[in-house]
Amino acid sequence: MTQDRRVITDEAAGTVLPAPRTPSPRAAPALNWGVVAPGWIAAQFVEALQKHTGQKVVAVGSRDAGRARAFADRFAVPRAYGSYAELVADDDVDIVYVASPHSGHFEQAMQAIEAGRHVLVEKAFTRNAREAEQLIEAARKRGVFLMEAMWTRFLPHIDVVRQVLESGLLGEVHTVTADHGQQMDPDPAGRLFAPELAGGALLDLGIYPVSFASMVLGPFSSVTAVGTKAFTGVDGQASIVVTTGSGAHGVLNTTLFARTPTTASISGTHARLEIEGPFYGPATVRLIGRDNEVTDLFVPPQRTGGLCYQAAEAARCIGAGRLESELMPLAETLRIMQVLDGVRRDLGVAFPGE
Ligand SMILES: NC(=O)c1ccc[n+]([C@@H]2O[C@H](COP(=O)([O-])OP(=O)(O)OC[C@H]3O[C@@H](n4cnc5c(N)ncnc54)[C@H](OP(=O)(O)O)[C@@H]3O)[C@@H](O)[C@H]2O)c1
Repeated sequence: MTQDRRVITDEAAGTVLPAPRTPSPRAAPALNWGVVAPGWIAAQFVEALQKHTGQKVVAVGSRDAGRARAFADRFAVPRAYGSYAELVADDDVDIVYVASPHSGHFEQAMQAIEAGRHVLVEKAFTRNAREAEQLIEAARKRGVFLMEAMWTRFLPHIDVVRQVLESGLLGEVHTVTADHGQQMDPDPAGRLFAPELAGGALLDLGIYPVSFASMVLGPFSSVTAVGTKAFTGVDGQASIVVTTGSGAHGVLNTTLFARTPTTASISGTHARLEIEGPFYGPATVRLIGRDNEVTDLFVPPQRTGGLCYQAAEAARCIGAGRLESELMPLAETLRIMQVLDGVRRDLGVAFPGE
């Protein structure tokens, strides 16, 4: 931020980048939410909902009644269930948020769909494209809303990026870069390294750069990846090059072995956008001209609680009778799962039981 202020004058700030069109998360119609799997992200999600939206969390389901109770007490959630089946059967629940490890997303989302609930499923949506396709088909048949919780898509700075792309301000886009690497404790029992929980860098972290490149470039015409396995056999690191029919490239990296800058950039013939790290959370966006000068910047309205925007989008869609979000369409979620399948094939990584 200090650096930003040195580069840019007050007169220039805000003159070129558009303001985000993202509606206030508080303005979305209030739904009753049920949470499946009260782990780390479920706690972040509920906290964001309670602080920044009018959404109500009315029930939580865990594989263990004690864990459900503890979560319910922590967040003043009225009902706690010792199984996921009981939670999805609760007729007071409008929408189920599935926050289990990737290996459980298919089963738990399907259970919720079959019970007639709308569903928000944590990323990665499923283990593979086959599972994703079945979920999408089931939701359409049942007439319920379904969305991948790719929270980045709904953040205000990403709406700024979308508008810049729509306006043609960057000229012809040739190169997209994005990375997401974290140094993870090599715990063989942990979710991230466990093959049976569909662990690995790609589904957990790599999905962010892949999804970002997909949003910017559209469908890829080729995907090539090289990688290194972790000690448990899951993908520990992957570098991915995607191309499009117009000849644009996306250069993407993910790793569980080291903290990377977690930045993203979009380079066109007229200008470049740079998103500071972590680009997948509320972040500053810089517009950079052909002479490498910073022309303008966008600073996000809030740095924390970013998970609230995806909940607000789900609530707006459901309130308007829509079964999917235009910002994260199911066809694109499926395409992204196909890309991840292809990358895992290149890396020689398969999950048990696939
Ligand atoms: N959007 C984001 O920023 C973000 C960040 C981190 C993770 N995520 C995503 O959120 C999901 C969960 O990640 P997390 O970090 O919250 O995981 P976590 O802390 O390990 O929690 C997952 C929960 O799933 C339940 N679970 C069900 N089957 C399980 C099994 N076989 N082994 C272990 N736990 C099982 C457990 O709750 P009960 O046993 O009590 O039911 C557990 O607390 C993943 O899809 C991940 O990619 C998203």
